[in-house]
Amino acid sequence: MKILIINGPNLNLLGTRETEIYGNSTFENYLNSLRSAFEQMEIQYFQSNIEGALIDKIQETPGVYDGIILNAAAYTHTSVGIADAVRAIDVPVIEVHISNTFSREDYRHKSFIAPVAKGVIIGFGLMSYELALMYFNKEK
Ligand code: DQA
Repeated sequence: MKILIINGPNLNLLGTRETEIYGNSTFENYLNSLRSAFEQMEIQYFQSNIEGALIDKIQETPGVYDGIILNAAAYTHTSVGIADAVRAIDVPVIEVHISNTFSREDYRHKSFIAPVAKGVIIGFGLMSYELALMYFNKEK
């Protein structure tokens, strides 16, 4: 089972960015622990701050990946383009968020991706990614 984790803008700053909300771990560090915990899965990672690069990556996934774990970060709340890319592919996408977006500003309550995602996991810190992997692991 081949899974692609896609992180959107500013998630390259995990570990130093608003640590009271997002924690102290870099994503690369967390990814190492995920790969050890799910050795039976191939977990690839892509991060970009650029909306079009995220769309290009999503378009490349059919026939290559069995599932996508997508944290589109701020683009979650604004991007019809990313939602359309998810709509256009047959690879299941789980939307994840580190923070509980519903306990934050109103503009974070809207997700363009949620309606086209297989499911949504929000607010469990970095564990949100692990919970999504557990789903894909059970699915196979
Ligand atoms: C986030 C929540 C978004 O509202 C925010 O713009 C992010 C991170 C999260 O994982 O909690 O950059 O997607």
